[in-house]
Amino acid sequence: MQASSHAGQSRERLPILDQKTSRRKVTRYGLFGLLGAFTGISAVATYKMLYPTKVTGFGAKVNAGTVADVKTLLAGQKYIRNSVGRFYLLPAAPDAAIAVYWKCVHLGCTVPAPSPALDGNIQCPCHGSLYNGQTGALIHGPATHPLDYFPITIDNGSVIVDTGKVTVRQDYSPDQATKLG
Ligand code: FES
Repeated sequence: MQASSHAGQSRERLPILDQKTSRRKVTRYGLFGLLGAFTGISAVATYKMLYPTKVTGFGAKVNAGTVADVKTLLAGQKYIRNSVGRFYLLPAAPDAAIAVYWKCVHLGCTVPAPSPALDGNIQCPCHGSLYNGQTGALIHGPATHPLDYFPITIDNGSVIVDTGKVTVRQDYSPDQATKLG
């Protein structure tokens, strides 16, 4: 009699055990789900934070002004200083310009604009390297090569300088300048 009553009790308890097991499963899956969602959200947030979607200023394309304005300024004061893009536009040839990075190639000091006191050339204030004020070519060191330059394109009547593409050179050549039209 006792044996059959035990069998009857364990049969009655079975559904309770099943309920506990399924509750555990639901809790576990729920936690995994939350963890997955948290990881996904974190990954998206990190990607959005690190991916440069709206780069403006130095490191991107910089609008240096209309072709007409650039031509007028280069004909008058002989250079244009662009602080956003960290470059000087110089009149490398008639109706052509070059955009030189203002970081001295010797040890990285910022070079000033071309100076009338130096025949329109550019002298680094740190150790005296002298660069040609129309092309950025090296006149004398300690620097060993010209100022780096950025590519220029003409887009819709504007002069666009791509400061994301620093170009190192050993000499000046006319193909480094861009015709302003
Ligand atoms: S950093 Fe310009 S000459 Fe040395």
